[in-house]
Amino acid sequence: MKIGILISGRGSNMTAIIEAVRDQRIPDAEVSVVISDKKNALGLEKASERGIETIVVARKNRTREEHDAEIVNELEKRGVELVCLAGYMRLLSKDFVRAFPEKIINIHPSLLPSFPGLDAQRQAIDYGVRISGCTVHFVDEHLDHGAIILQKSVEVTNEDTSATLSAKILEHEHTLYVEALRKIVGGKCQIIGRRVVFEN
Ligand code: GRF
Repeated sequence: MKIGILISGRGSNMTAIIEAVRDQRIPDAEVSVVISDKKNALGLEKASERGIETIVVARKNRTREEHDAEIVNELEKRGVELVCLAGYMRLLSKDFVRAFPEKIINIHPSLLPSFPGLDAQRQAIDYGVRISGCTVHFVDEHLDHGAIILQKSVEVTNEDTSATLSAKILEHEHTLYVEALRKIVGGKCQIIGRRVVFEN
């Protein structure tokens, strides 16, 4: 299965996916391209160092639809079948989501539906929750909303800051994203309503 990864920043989840594909922890997959909307994204170099094609598709002064159309075109040209958002900081247009039905996945650093949107770890600290975590989910037309594939919880202590909580969650993000992709690439899951069902 050909995977395309979208990033905007440091790309640690992207790196975890590339390495898991390379080591066959995600079998029968290939990372065909990494696309960033930011030309200075640190992840671009990490992808190139690992031999993956990278492209920058900057927003410029275009509408979301125009920008997304170019990204969709680049993905389609390469025969990408599964799109992984990995710290991609832009909301996708309806047209983008419809171009890859049930084939776009995201990771979010909270236990959704709590704390969608920006600064999820800061939101969790400010709210005073005792447990937070990360969520791998399918992407639909609403922000951080699609069917949940996997979640992992972490404890929030009184000593935690947004930075320490982010670091704790990030460690789990890398393993959770890889585990979710193993199941999806292996064809082992189905979406029924809001529920993602795994076969054994
Ligand atoms: C991660 O915390 C991810 O959950 C969120 O953005 C961050 C991206 O980090 N969507 P990285 O670029 O993968 O290191």
